[in-house]
Amino acid sequence: MLIGFQNVTFEFGARVIVQDATWHINPGERIGLIGYNGTGKSTLLKVLVGQYSPSKGTVEKMRDTSIGYLHQDLLSFETTDSILEVAMGAFERVRQLEKEIEALGKELETREDEKLLTDYTDKLHEMDVLDGYNIQYKTEEVLHGLGFTNEQMMKPYQQFSGGWRMRVLLAKMILQSPDVLLLDEPTNHLDLPSIEWLEKYLLHYQGSVVIVSHDKFFLNRMVNKIVEIYQQELNIYSGNYEYYEVEKVQRVEIQQRAFENQQEYIRQQERFIERFRAKATKAAAAQSAMKRLDKIERIENVEIERPNIKINFQVNNQPGKILVTLKDIHKKYGENLIIDKGVAEIERGDKIALIGANGKGKSTLLRIIAGTEENFGGERVWGHNVDSSFYAQHQLEALTMDNTILNEMLESRSGKTELELRSLLGCFLFSGDDTDKKIKLLSGGEKARVALAKVIVSKSNFLMLDEPTNHLDMHSVELLADALNKYEGSLILVSHDRYFVSKTANKIWEIVDHEIKEFKGTYTEYTEWKERMAKQAKEESRKTVVVKPEANVKKQEETKNKPAVASIPKPRIDNTELKKVQNKFKKAEEEVESLKQQKQTIELALADPNSYKNAALFAENEKNYKRIKELLALSEKNYETLFEQLMELEGNG
Ligand SMILES: Nc1ncnc2c1ncn2[C@@H]1O[C@H](COP(=O)(O)OP(=O)(O)OP(=O)(O)O)[C@@H](O)[C@H]1O
Ligand SMILES: [Mg+2]
Repeated sequence: MLIGFQNVTFEFGARVIVQDATWHINPGERIGLIGYNGTGKSTLLKVLVGQYSPSKGTVEKMRDTSIGYLHQDLLSFETTDSILEVAMGAFERVRQLEKEIEALGKELETREDEKLLTDYTDKLHEMDVLDGYNIQYKTEEVLHGLGFTNEQMMKPYQQFSGGWRMRVLLAKMILQSPDVLLLDEPTNHLDLPSIEWLEKYLLHYQGSVVIVSHDKFFLNRMVNKIVEIYQQELNIYSGNYEYYEVEKVQRVEIQQRAFENQQEYIRQQERFIERFRAKATKAAAAQSAMKRLDKIERIENVEIERPNIKINFQVNNQPGKILVTLKDIHKKYGENLIIDKGVAEIERGDKIALIGANGKGKSTLLRIIAGTEENFGGERVWGHNVDSSFYAQHQLEALTMDNTILNEMLESRSGKTELELRSLLGCFLFSGDDTDKKIKLLSGGEKARVALAKVIVSKSNFLMLDEPTNHLDMHSVELLADALNKYEGSLILVSHDRYFVSKTANKIWEIVDHEIKEFKGTYTEYTEWKERMAKQAKEESRKTVVVKPEANVKKQEETKNKPAVASIPKPRIDNTELKKVQNKFKKAEEEVESLKQQKQTIELALADPNSYKNAALFAENEKNYKRIKELLALSEKNYETLFEQLMELEGNG
């Protein structure tokens, strides 16, 4: 064992986090620490690293075990050093050696000394052993993986936002390669490519890793053990998240069955006692049955308990048909072009997901729409009657840490009474005294709930949400998705959570080549479309493509009359493909026609009273009729599909 708990109890005042918990972290283990928001995951990590001490039991640690700990709260660390410099801080010893070697080298130039020389060669040797000449390369590699460009690495740490700073500290920590890595929600501020990179990196990590996460996919790939904090206990499951889900249900079922069996037994015994208590001959037996009943240890009934937050977005009044118009938006950060000629409209009823890698300008675009970013070219126009609410990225940091939850709500000037606010907070699982708790004491997920409550209280008809699912546990994400689905207003959101996006959006926006591309459809349709396009592109590159000149002309015309919103480009027109589909379409048309005729003939036959007389013939006709109907349905479907393909190929789709 490297580090662990032995019969640990920890509490905040009257609130028990864990009771009598034992958990050992062994070398090479990859553990997912899971549990609902506010159950105490972050707290447990703090107990492990010694920031808090348990009220009972001990935290045991093997000597010389090094620990790296990534907080959930963004650090107040500030420096003008470059990103690269900060991350390279991981190699403290090497950097020390570099300095010493340089000094010794200088000294050796001026005087010859036996001892000095051995010292010098020793240090060179140590440098070699530590692979000290490669540290810059290694650091750059990791920073790259986490999404930094070479240019960004040279910029001062201070200039970066919280999410990016977290990445630098994460990079530094994994470069230090401690025996145990404790990571508290490392994926919260990462986009998909970075998450995938981190997955790969951690899979080959030599030390043990403990990850707190609410991301199912990530956990499934990363961990081989799950430690669940649930009802003040630590439950250990030796498998990944999928295994945990199945196993948990089974454990609950087993206990439920045991409970039911016991209840049945108890009822039986009670009936027995009831019947025979008064009978002299059986009184003794009844007595002992009673004793038996008193003695048995009662199994508790279990039901999986869930934090059911009640989210209900409401709308005060309806906006006009167009909520926002973006005209020729142009945005640069220094030399870095983000958006050029950004054109788009948000219509009533739109539920837009803005997706794509970090650094493409999603949050910037959202801020431009929200009006909190003023430094840009072009124009953003609000429609009539638009009441908006903005849930910014790092919204949690925007909460006033010294406020109580209730004060934070009162300050949002919703015009609601304290009583109404308390009842709203109750829906977010802050009841009674909880509302007097200071924001700074809340867990990540609890802060997110306060921020969400602030959005809800406004009853806006247009929501702008930047990564609203960060910090929320899986069950709460589900409830949020449901609530947004029912919401009558319009919204635009940024999220890296594929599941969440697929459940909420009816349009997809992506920033491609500095333009806003719109896809009208759900995320699932969007990914299918992307796959289809990729496949088609692959096929096309295999074939020699013949494009008729007219086709080209047509395409140009189309570009001229392009709708206001730049749509995702259509595939190139492939004539051989077109011919093929045209032929198939013609055949399908004929087939449908012929089947229709056959159907009609049989219908007539069936309608003829004479046909009833011959039962066998009637049955035969009826069978045929059913078959033809089926065939016709199939054939019609095929016909429609071909028609769509044809439209797409001809560019009318
Ligand atoms: N210093 C403190 N004093 C009192 N209560 C605290 C303190 N710190 C945390 N808590 C409370 O203890 C509980 C556990 O908090 P913790 O941050 O460990 O939860 P968590 O499991 O990490 O949740 P999340 O998934 O939201 O990050 C929460 O209800 C939180 O409000
Ligand atoms: Mg936490």
